[in-house]
Amino acid sequence: MNEFPLLDPSDGIPLFYPYVPAEAIAEVTDTLSGRWIGQGPKVDLFEKQFEDMFLGQHKALAVGSGTDALHLAYLLANVTADDEVIVPVFTCTATNIPLLYIGAKIVFADIDPDTMNISIPDVERKITPKTKAIVCVDYGGVPCDYDALNHLCKKHGLKLISDAAHSIGSKYKGQFSGTCADFTIFSFQAIKTLTTGDGGMLTIRDPSLIEKAKRLRWFGIDRSAKQGGIWENDIIEVGYKYQMTDIAAGIGLAGLKHIREVIRYRNELFQHYEAKLTSSRVKLIGQSSTSDYFTCAWLLTIIVDQDRVALMKKLRENGVESGQVHYRNDRYSILGGRCKDLPHMDELEDRYLVLPLHPRIRLSDIEKICGLINEGW
Ligand SMILES: Cc1ncc(COP(=O)(O)O)c(C=O)c1O
Repeated sequence: MNEFPLLDPSDGIPLFYPYVPAEAIAEVTDTLSGRWIGQGPKVDLFEKQFEDMFLGQHKALAVGSGTDALHLAYLLANVTADDEVIVPVFTCTATNIPLLYIGAKIVFADIDPDTMNISIPDVERKITPKTKAIVCVDYGGVPCDYDALNHLCKKHGLKLISDAAHSIGSKYKGQFSGTCADFTIFSFQAIKTLTTGDGGMLTIRDPSLIEKAKRLRWFGIDRSAKQGGIWENDIIEVGYKYQMTDIAAGIGLAGLKHIREVIRYRNELFQHYEAKLTSSRVKLIGQSSTSDYFTCAWLLTIIVDQDRVALMKKLRENGVESGQVHYRNDRYSILGGRCKDLPHMDELEDRYLVLPLHPRIRLSDIEKICGLINEGW
């Protein structure tokens, strides 16, 4: 039974809507009336609860955004300006822009047409002696093929960085996203499955890197030594100001109390689309679950045979928002410009469409959306 608040009917069916539980207000009020409003004990508690719920042996580092987490992951993987990094062409620009901070060479890999995740055969083709790392994204919440990616990384001595900004709660072969790569990042930006307003989490397989990660998060300073009054007063590596605040962590702690129900409901909504979308003119991207994975869906994406704009217009006229959300990243000049070796991306770029899926919508909303699509456009 869905206990999430109803939408105001005048909103129509929006593509996104933040989910912030009522307890977040008390958490933030409590933070604001105490000593620590920047990075303090609630950040530590949020990391600990996140590790207990999702990470097993992997370590968690809470940061100001998913983009901060990606930058730290690339630095901890020792990516330098001399390296090539193989990345998905289809993702949020945030996946790839931190590589520009470092000056590494971005090598785009094509998509798998069934999931829009990175194509493993294309990754394999693009590995060279200069490749340092592979970056993958669990698009929409559907996990990548981590066995294949880890196998390639082991074979070629590469680091695997998983951008799980969409996939908190999803599982690959029974393992939560966050535990399938050397480094994984999550985003808690406003409309993500778990939000802290803005925020992110870096998860790290090698526990010996956590102290370095903490220093890089805070100007290169060993913050606990400094606060303990025994800091030797030197900085030997360039750090950043990437910490999460206790205000954000309080919102995150409130969100974690409800996360299991949110994960279950997002999967149920995906299943309902699978059952109700019967038009032969559309195909769903990914599945709600298979023998290999379980999807906590952040996005629901369909591929239409043609006239995407006409379908968007029809949906909009009936109060339903839809959109593209992400675009192929090689369209952006700063990322190197259009590539000619990405045939699956070429094939789908004018045909994918993202439909509403979030805790504020009901199964009946999905029936309305699917009815409109099944009627044709
Ligand atoms: C795939 C992906 N990676 C990274 C990010 C960046 O996260 P943030 O906005 O928290 O920096 C986002 C979204 O915002 C995203 O969709």
